[in-house]
Amino acid sequence: MRVVLMGPPGVGKGTQAAQMQALLGVPHVSTGNILRVAIQQEGSPLGSEVRRFVESGRLVPDGLMGDLIAERLGRRDSAGGFILDGFPRTLEQVDILDGVLGRLGLELDRVLMLKVPEAEIVRRLSGRRTCPSCGAVYHLDSRPPAAAGVCDACGSGLVQRPDDTEQVIRERMKIYTAQRLPVAQAYRAKGILVEVDGFGEVDAVSARLNAGLGKGMARP
Ligand code: AP5
Repeated sequence: MRVVLMGPPGVGKGTQAAQMQALLGVPHVSTGNILRVAIQQEGSPLGSEVRRFVESGRLVPDGLMGDLIAERLGRRDSAGGFILDGFPRTLEQVDILDGVLGRLGLELDRVLMLKVPEAEIVRRLSGRRTCPSCGAVYHLDSRPPAAAGVCDACGSGLVQRPDDTEQVIRERMKIYTAQRLPVAQAYRAKGILVEVDGFGEVDAVSARLNAGLGKGMARP
């Protein structure tokens, strides 16, 4: 199954994609994670090019994102499906994805759009802690690690993302709000968009997403 997960910063895309990956047995492809790994690699040309965009909350240019996504979806592990988290974010990226999938002879099955109230986004992002080694995601209140500040999965020290400061969160929200409608409309027109309430316990949200995956929708 080929799925796009979209929604505002901090809505829970990464958290849900990790669960869905286990359910569907397809890779979780997060453009944010790919960019953060590149930034961490010392001397990486991609990392130094994208750092200033990611850490200020601005979008990395579409052309660069297109090359990156074409390479990632062309890999063998994506042939049987994928969960795409964080791409596409602009109409141009919608076209890029159509082109990449068209060349591979594939089509998207679902676009799941998570929604939560803005106050909950702020709560989620301000309490988020992530593992810089394995990428696991925690929350100080709703998903704390067993030992404070330590990743349950690999034992590394947890950190706060540099783009989770108040000013950068505002910039990310502003950009998402400006881009969301045309992207959602493009997928609504294809008959594959499902809007899902992302508020509530992680497992309750997963159940709603799974129901969205199974929803029969005729393509126009
Ligand atoms: P990216 O990493 O994709 O960031 P984002 O879209 O802003 O989303 P987040 O990762 O912040 O949040 P999430 O929705 O995954 O939430 P999470 O599951 O962590 O992109 C980062 C940057 O990279 C962009 O700003 C841009 O610069 C660049 N970029 C990436 N893709 C790009 C593209 N296509 N084009 C151009 N540039 C691009 O959850 C958040 C918190 O809430 C966690 O603490 C979690 O534990 C908690 N939580 C989750 N679910 C629940 C729940 N149900 N109840 C309570 N708490 C919950």
